Amino acid sequence: MKIISRFIIVVLLSISTSSFAFKAKENLHKADSTDNKTVNIIETKIDSLLGIMTLEEKIGQMNQYTGFWDVTGPAPKEGSAATKYDDLRKGLIGSMLNVTGAEQVRALQKIAVEETRLGIPLIIGFDVIHGYKTVSPIPLAESASWDLEAIKKSAEVAALEAAASGINWTFAPMVDISRDPRWGRVMEGAGEDTYLGSKIGVARVMGFQGDDLSSKRTIAACAKHFAGYGFAESGKDYNTVDVGTSTLFNIILPPFKAASDAGVATFMNSFNELNGIPATGNSFLQRDILKGKWNFDGFVVSDWGSIMEMLNHRYVATGKDAAELALLAGSDMDMESHLYIEHIADLVENNEVSIGLIDDAVKRILRIKFQLGLFDDPYRYCDPNFEKETIGSRPVQDAVLDMAKKSIVLLKNEGNILPLEKSGLNVLVVGQLARDKTSPLGNWRLGADNGTAVSLLEGLQKYDGNNYTFIEGPKMFDEEFSFPKEIKINNNDLSGLQEVISAARNADVVLLAFGEHAFQSGEGRSQSHISLPGVQQEAMEEIYKANKNVVLLLHNGRPLAIDWADKNIPGILDVWQLGTQSGNAIAEVIYGDYNPSGKLPMTFPKSVGQIPVYYNHKSTGRPKLPAPDEVFWSHYTDIDNEPLYPFGYGLSYTTFSYSNLNVDKVEKNKVTVSFEIKNTGKREGREVAQLYIQDVVGSVTRPVRELKGFELVNLKSNETKKVTIQLTENELGFYNNDGNFIVEPGDFKVFVGGSSNTQLEGAFKLD
Ligand code: NOJ
Repeated sequence: MKIISRFIIVVLLSISTSSFAFKAKENLHKADSTDNKTVNIIETKIDSLLGIMTLEEKIGQMNQYTGFWDVTGPAPKEGSAATKYDDLRKGLIGSMLNVTGAEQVRALQKIAVEETRLGIPLIIGFDVIHGYKTVSPIPLAESASWDLEAIKKSAEVAALEAAASGINWTFAPMVDISRDPRWGRVMEGAGEDTYLGSKIGVARVMGFQGDDLSSKRTIAACAKHFAGYGFAESGKDYNTVDVGTSTLFNIILPPFKAASDAGVATFMNSFNELNGIPATGNSFLQRDILKGKWNFDGFVVSDWGSIMEMLNHRYVATGKDAAELALLAGSDMDMESHLYIEHIADLVENNEVSIGLIDDAVKRILRIKFQLGLFDDPYRYCDPNFEKETIGSRPVQDAVLDMAKKSIVLLKNEGNILPLEKSGLNVLVVGQLARDKTSPLGNWRLGADNGTAVSLLEGLQKYDGNNYTFIEGPKMFDEEFSFPKEIKINNNDLSGLQEVISAARNADVVLLAFGEHAFQSGEGRSQSHISLPGVQQEAMEEIYKANKNVVLLLHNGRPLAIDWADKNIPGILDVWQLGTQSGNAIAEVIYGDYNPSGKLPMTFPKSVGQIPVYYNHKSTGRPKLPAPDEVFWSHYTDIDNEPLYPFGYGLSYTTFSYSNLNVDKVEKNKVTVSFEIKNTGKREGREVAQLYIQDVVGSVTRPVRELKGFELVNLKSNETKKVTIQLTENELGFYNNDGNFIVEPGDFKVFVGGSSNTQLEGAFKLD
């Protein structure tokens, strides 16, 4: 019965609108591009298009399928290539993901535009997370630069390459804050801090989107995962999230709000439940906050299959209920659950959801398509010549190299073991990662080809004044694996170590390329151990016995617990996964052609048992050791409370001193903080000067410190510069437990320096 009645409605609607439809199709496609930039004109066009769309066509716009060759989630049961082509021709697909290449996209777009009744173009999405073909450092590494311009540039070149390859929309930036390095996806975010994370999220949005979405050099961005995904219990991906209102409003939501305020085109919701309600069906998040309070006018896409997964959460009993609740909660587009296309028409016909909700979702989706210029020229992003000249071009390579150098963090440099002399040294390079050309590309670089990164060994070749010996040593990982399989780590075979030890005895310095492979972090790759994987710890200790001049080049997608290395190894450089130009960037830093300037965006714990350990924790009722042998205070009995390396920490080949801190309250709720930084070492260097506040007493307890400003300062040897940072209500206030932003009178402390544990302190009072 239902099927018949739906069929009749569809036929009637098509008959009554078909002549309009063809006119609309022509007019929309011929529209002047300057018209499209005017909001009102776009709104009028959306309304007229909506007026001639059938219910099925509307629902089609809300339906997103993956392409025919890639999946970035569990493969769906249905949706074979033939079915998808069929659905596409019927106008039942509004968007596709995982389709790339100017020619391939053109072929699909041609069907959407020329063979469907209304000719509405597809929006093509792809995970352009830290680069497309040419890859930047993983986002966590980029964040260590604290360099918003470089980060924006990195997103800009990623967008350029992706747009040239037919892509309109990236599922980035991920603005999830996380305090748990066990969570594999910390590699994809900006770390643990809301203030830094918000600034970086905005820089990425601006880089991807530019100031004109319709340019063939830009793509739409997507703030994800809304919300709470980074707070998965025990750091296990997709796990339950249960957080209080204060954490939700002050830590989790602000980067999303910043992205929304910056004009991000889309949001993606999240796999997790938040306080008992799956984020995908969470109307408080999507309707009340995002589309209500924040007035967001773009659209929300579900995460891969997350509408369907509400059944697994046991929040709904049927796919139809899942579709209904997701829609009611404000999820506009269904990524790969296939539930909207299956159930929404019935839900509307049975008056279970109103057509108004469908229209709202469709309008949002069409709005972004119009803004992208897809109605002006659906093939704008499908020019193979532009694709060819853009991908891997010099400016793109330069941007990712610059980003890679700025992302490296010098964690230890005892006796100034670094930088190395450029000649006369016997350098022993150890570890499979030193020759690896795939792992440096990181986990989330779907568009890049394996084996395209500059390896460490290749990067070192430029510095040919030294003698190099490379010995791989004990195998670290099995190279015979492919995405998305789990990587196999060698946990017991130390063969090859003796050869390294003998060579180490004759070397002047040993460079240990150790740490994680890129496929140990990322989605679905949470870990309960975050020390050096496999046999590396044991190997490192043995090598160190043979030669103390060791530099650990730490490859990692998350903070690692390297307590032993910190106590023993003289030089430690955090080289993350640095992307296409990895080897060149690391070599430049090893030899001092770039003086490292990165600062950690996430705390490194001493052991996994300290997690979550983060700088902006609360005081608790028992914060301090009352007497040396006291027991009853907030601590562990087997390890101290201090992390291995705090948030904001990072060394340089030069040194900096901070002085002359001045704090002036210039007017109500406005404070000017100034201080001086001097380069007290012998080399030119760059410092990330950081400002933290403590709101001493709050009606909701406040963290011990909160980052509220920072500035990048370049200084020649002996040079001094004055830094001035303004604190306004935005920095001085916080969200109370009702979600209202308030500024409270009272005492504040200010701390400035080169790390979150800096001791240079000032004060002010608000009345
Ligand atoms: C699942 C991930 O959680 C999300 O971030 C990604 O964008 C989608 N898959 C699409 O690949």
